[in-house]
Amino acid sequence: MSSTILALGRSSFGDPANEGKLLSQEEAIALLNEWVPNERLRLHMKQVSAVMKAWALEKEGADELTARKWELAGLLHDADWEKYPEAHCRMIIEKLEELGVDAEVIHCIASHGPRYFGVEPNNTMDKMIYVFDELSGFIHAATLMRPTRYEGMDVKSILKKLKTPSFAAQVSRDDINDAIGRIDTPLEEIIQFIIDHQKDVV
Ligand SMILES: [Fe+2]
Repeated sequence: MSSTILALGRSSFGDPANEGKLLSQEEAIALLNEWVPNERLRLHMKQVSAVMKAWALEKEGADELTARKWELAGLLHDADWEKYPEAHCRMIIEKLEELGVDAEVIHCIASHGPRYFGVEPNNTMDKMIYVFDELSGFIHAATLMRPTRYEGMDVKSILKKLKTPSFAAQVSRDDINDAIGRIDTPLEEIIQFIIDHQKDVV
C-alpha cells in the first residue's frame, strides 16, 4: 500500500441501527466486479474473504451471521483500491454506509491498515483482517513462483521469503509484524491456515 493514502480522519463508521444488515454474496460479487476490473485484485479479495470466513467458523466458533460479516469485510476491503487509489478505503466505506451495511463490517474494513487509514483494529475481526491481508497476498505471490503452486508449499519457505527483503518487496514486513503482535496466534500457524484455506479459491 502506498503511504500517500490519506487517513480517514474519523473513528466511527456506519449506523448501529444496521446491525446484522449485510449484502448478499451475489450483491457483494456484483459490486466487486463493477469496482474492480483487475482479476488478480479480485482474487486477492476473494482469498482474504475465504480465509476470514474459515477463521471465524473454525477458530472463533462464529454463528452463520457473524461468519458472513467476516466474509463480507474480506471480500470488499480493497474494493476501491483500483479505481480510487488516492481515496482508498474512504470510497468503499462511504458506499457501504450508503447501502446501510452493518457497522462492524465497515469498521473492520476501515481498520485493515492502521498506519494508512488511522483507524485502530478493535475486535478480533478487525485484528484478523489486518493479519491476513498482507500475508495472504505474500503467500499467493510465493505460490506463483512454483510450478506446483500451493501443492507442497510449506511454512518454512514462506518464513524464509519474509526474511528476504527483495522478494515481494512491496509487502510491508513492518505491517505483518505489527499485525501479528496484536494477536495470540503464532505467525507459523497463521501462514499454515492461509495456505490451507486459500489454495482452492479461484
Ligand atoms: Fe488487501
